[in-house]
Amino acid sequence: MRLSGKIAIITGAARGQGAAAARRFVEEGAKVTIADIRDEEGKQLAAELGQATIYQHLDVTSEEDWAAAVAETVSIFGHPSVLVNNAGILHFSSIVDTTLADYERVIKVNQIGTFLGMRAVVPGMIESGGGSIINVSSVEGMTGSAYLTAYTASKFAVRGMTKAAALELGKHNIRVNSVHPGAIDTQMASDAMGGLEIDMAKVGKRVAGLRRVGTADEIANLQVFLASDESSYSTGGEFLADGGATAANSLT
Ligand code: NAI
Repeated sequence: MRLSGKIAIITGAARGQGAAAARRFVEEGAKVTIADIRDEEGKQLAAELGQATIYQHLDVTSEEDWAAAVAETVSIFGHPSVLVNNAGILHFSSIVDTTLADYERVIKVNQIGTFLGMRAVVPGMIESGGGSIINVSSVEGMTGSAYLTAYTASKFAVRGMTKAAALELGKHNIRVNSVHPGAIDTQMASDAMGGLEIDMAKVGKRVAGLRRVGTADEIANLQVFLASDESSYSTGGEFLADGGATAANSLT
């Protein structure tokens, strides 16, 4: 029970990596607010995981939704001690073909959503003596990818704001770290690689290092560590789980 006594909000938790984190957090004794805009899937997951969870509709770009999600979590479980800013969207297109609306949509969800999330939970964390904020960036927060200008910009921003927040909030015993997954086998990745029919094992062969894609559980395990007191001296850090992808140069 590595997360016994912890109260977490996990965004984008109706499916994919957020759902895997919700499952692992509950297994480790946390209370979890599963937050997403995919209400049906989110409610189903909360029903499956039982009383340690609630589902809350939360569009991470909405200040009102954040206020409501924090208030609901406080009223059912207490002040959140952990926030996983996991919700994200991907948009592939060349620079020339990226409309202003495309660019702004990606920045709004991935970057502004993360900022709004931190801002919403920090007062309660200060009041209750501390907490852990986990901001999900990407390997695109460490290196660039062609056709992912908006996404790469948003994920570098997440990495940067994590460090600024860690410096500002350390005196309140609030730790802030970024997680950088590589290619993870979720709907987002299969959509990006060409839809449901895609053979992710084949894609994985191109990953430098471990030569396979990662699983949502492998990211959830890292997040359990960061949410728990086991990571008590880690803040402002970048935690890679990318199978070795960013250890390589482009010729590997
Ligand atoms: P996914 O697409 O399966 O899950 C993303 C979740 O975010 C969905 O449930 C979606 O409904 C939710 N979401 C989207 N917009 C939202 C909004 N405005 N408000 C609230 N929720 C919203 O993708 P996956 O793989 O689970 O992604 C999780 C995080 O990991 C994202 O931040 C993504 O950028 C990041 N990531 C994913 C990688 C991958 O290969 N799958 C690699 C590196 C990072």
